[in-house]
Amino acid sequence: MTRASYGIDAPGAVRANIVLGVVFAAAAAAGAAWSVPAWIITVAAFLAALCFFYAAVMLWSSLVAKKRVCARLVTALALSGNERVLDAGCGRGLALIACAKKLTTGKAVGVDLWAAKDLSDNNPNATLANAAAEGVADHVAVETGDITKLPFADASFDAIISITVIHNIPSRDGRDQALRELARVLKPGGRVAIFDLLHTARYAQVLRDAGLTVEILSREILWLLPSRSLLARKP
Ligand SMILES: C[S@@+](CC[C@H](N)C(=O)[O-])C[C@H]1O[C@@H](n2cnc3c(N)ncnc32)[C@H](O)[C@@H]1O
Repeated sequence: MTRASYGIDAPGAVRANIVLGVVFAAAAAAGAAWSVPAWIITVAAFLAALCFFYAAVMLWSSLVAKKRVCARLVTALALSGNERVLDAGCGRGLALIACAKKLTTGKAVGVDLWAAKDLSDNNPNATLANAAAEGVADHVAVETGDITKLPFADASFDAIISITVIHNIPSRDGRDQALRELARVLKPGGRVAIFDLLHTARYAQVLRDAGLTVEILSREILWLLPSRSLLARKP
């Protein structure tokens, strides 16, 4: 059985930065060989370094930093083992499987649209293969769905987790709707743990307006963007 692998976020942007880095580096090398003015070579070399640096930041954020954030959020959910847990925008199952590992009789359900631009090799078979590789296939299920209209009944989950998902919804109305959907499917007494980029102050407001209490667990810079972890509780 192969090892679980959770993919790279925004793979097209990582590729674009690497390709641009190679192009600028080649231009700088060609400029040096053809004796073009030094400032042009310096600018090309600077742009190459910038592109390679941002590609490295993106890879580190996906492959290292996000895993640490995920571990902290799963701990914050304080699962006791018998819960029904939703991973909203589960991708290849990073948080879904981390939650499933805490369950005894419970179930972790992942829902996703499987957008290829958001995560490399993003598909439900990859998620299920990862769950099998991690030994938690019995505690995992995946569904195809949009988190702005979740295919679940009101109050059907004890806990919800969502990592680097909601910012992918282009409009503020869409992001607000997704947060109201998370609040809708959460049971009274349930917890929602969210990590995301950019719009998290607004997320906290929408969750409060939906009647949840919200705690900011951490502020950090991932992908060189302001980001926060939130923990919300439904009374
Ligand atoms: C950057 S990936 C993160 C995946 C996973 N949470 C992780 O941390 O590895 C964002 C995920 O959100 C999913 N997604 C984006 N918009 C969505 C929506 N409206 N409904 C469901 N899933 C969505 C994408 O398909 C993708 O799997």
